Amino acid sequence: SDDALVIFTPSGKRGRFPLGTPVLQAARSLGVDLDSVCGGRGICSKCQITPGYGEFPKFGIHVDDEALSEWNSVEERYKSKRGMIDGRRLGCQAKVMGNVVIDVPPESQVHKQVIRKSATAREITMDPATRLLFIEVAEPDMHEPTGDFERVQRALAEQWQVDAVVADLAVLRRLQPVLRKGEWKITVALHRGNHDTAHRILDLWPGYHDGGLYGLAIDLGSTTIAAHLCDLRDGHVLASSGVMNPQIRFGEDLMSRVSYAMMNPGGDQEMTAAVRTSINGLVQAIATEAGVDPASIYEVVFVCNPVMHHLLLGIDPVELGQAPFALATSGSLALPAREMELTAVNSAAQVYVLPCIAGHVGADAAAVALAEAPDKSEDMVLIVDVGTNAEILLGNKERVLACSSPTGPAFEGAQISSGQRAAPGAIERVEINVATKEPRFRVIGSDLWSDDPGFAEATANSGITGICGSGIIEAVAEMRLAGILDGSGLIGSAEQVGTERCRPEGRTNSYLMFDGSATGGPVITVTQGDIRAIQLAKSALYAGARLLMDEMNIDHVDRVVLAGAFGAHISPKHAMILGMIPDAPLDKVASAGNAAGTGARIALCNRAARDAIEATVHEIHKVETAIEPRFQEHFVNASAIPNAVDPFPHLAA
Ligand code: FES
Repeated sequence: SDDALVIFTPSGKRGRFPLGTPVLQAARSLGVDLDSVCGGRGICSKCQITPGYGEFPKFGIHVDDEALSEWNSVEERYKSKRGMIDGRRLGCQAKVMGNVVIDVPPESQVHKQVIRKSATAREITMDPATRLLFIEVAEPDMHEPTGDFERVQRALAEQWQVDAVVADLAVLRRLQPVLRKGEWKITVALHRGNHDTAHRILDLWPGYHDGGLYGLAIDLGSTTIAAHLCDLRDGHVLASSGVMNPQIRFGEDLMSRVSYAMMNPGGDQEMTAAVRTSINGLVQAIATEAGVDPASIYEVVFVCNPVMHHLLLGIDPVELGQAPFALATSGSLALPAREMELTAVNSAAQVYVLPCIAGHVGADAAAVALAEAPDKSEDMVLIVDVGTNAEILLGNKERVLACSSPTGPAFEGAQISSGQRAAPGAIERVEINVATKEPRFRVIGSDLWSDDPGFAEATANSGITGICGSGIIEAVAEMRLAGILDGSGLIGSAEQVGTERCRPEGRTNSYLMFDGSATGGPVITVTQGDIRAIQLAKSALYAGARLLMDEMNIDHVDRVVLAGAFGAHISPKHAMILGMIPDAPLDKVASAGNAAGTGARIALCNRAARDAIEATVHEIHKVETAIEPRFQEHFVNASAIPNAVDPFPHLAA
């Protein structure tokens, strides 16, 4: 017959093709994942395949030696120049001549990136907005007067089925020398955002270019700025890095930064300049760390809360400081990086900012929703991104609600007498013996407990410097369990509790966690003021979650996800003892790490994910905590540990 059966592994996709069909073309028409950058010209070698010969009982076929066309000169040239594993062929050169089984090795698959989530792993298909394409452009002809760019457009249309291509003047100015140097063969970096009708050429090179193509996913938080540098060809994260948000010097929390902008003319611009400078520095640092030229970064995706969002974009955030908390825009944004003065990346780089959910619930919450997909969940999930402003999502595939709650910076160790940020030397785990009321603890940077032999040596470098957010949560919860605190959050006296660690301090008591004064170290105590600060923060968090549960008309959730860098370190048990989160089976409380950063990476790697989150955000129902009287009620009840009215059946168990 004049056609043959082609079976691809590992996908198992199969079809009949006329003899002479290139394997790459067969793969494409079946939707088999086989890479190609040069469009089948035998240059990129991305299309390598391994044909199988002999009997295939599983498929009921025999593949004879002539199943593919003979090894050709293009393959020969490639193999002698760059080498190729024996048995491999170039899919664009080998033609189907008989029934054949063709294996696509992992390196030749358009990569899928597995992103780990709390409970499940998720596969992201790479479909970034920017890709490299090799083209052969027709030479100019006296008889057919067209411009070089018009012939580039035609080549892209004919060779890559890409129509509507535009280019900035900076690219047009380089076009002619590049075309001539490459002898009419060039590689272009082509960008199309999820809302663009046209493709835009961001960069071009003579001949076949296999240089880097990178993107950044940036989670711009009020305290820290975290960035992931990703390879846009396969989604790999090459480096992750973070810096403090320099806006801290204008105000610790969001509202104090908004008031700084209100009180100081030009204050918003100062904060915008500070954060942009810092992002440029971070880009340099992360590129150096990964050994990548920052000019090969073509895409930047941002997620951030609404105030950071406005300040990043250079929009005065004053409206976010007062009801009705109107955003300048809640939609996603796509713009050139240079408009945001991101000068460290390629001058043609493009920025995508995820949409905001509401005036208090930002693009960071949208990114969490993208990463954790509550809108696809069968069970009712509560997702809490713990920060100075907690962003809370509740829902399942039927309906998703969102709110934010002003927890303040206590969970980050601020406003706590011995509080500090999570850094080596900070107490992060605490246990208190119920009988003796004696504490033992662990500090960041060592796996040993304070009563383990070798602890002093292990912590000699960092010292014991203070308590970080997860440490204070455990300390307060353990104090409650040991009876040092009563249900209202009051620290008992030495006589009441039966330990000299409880000491009077003014009119209240404090609990001594660590006394390093003998060796010139700090005295670390948990004061009544610390307890109050934690009570305020946890009440705000809990009240927000309960308000959403009211709105959803439910009295319990199936599972809880703690998101955010800080969420990753919280012990679920202690969070529940405190009544920070609603009651749930303990094994159903999971941490999702930096879910906002993960969401940013997904949006960086996959254009369709941008459409998806924009649609999801549209469907999420926002609940405004500030105007809900029930929020106040829940807040007051949540001041008790764990709660004045709500039962916590899973704590008793
Ligand atoms: Fe580029 Fe085959 S597709 S070498």
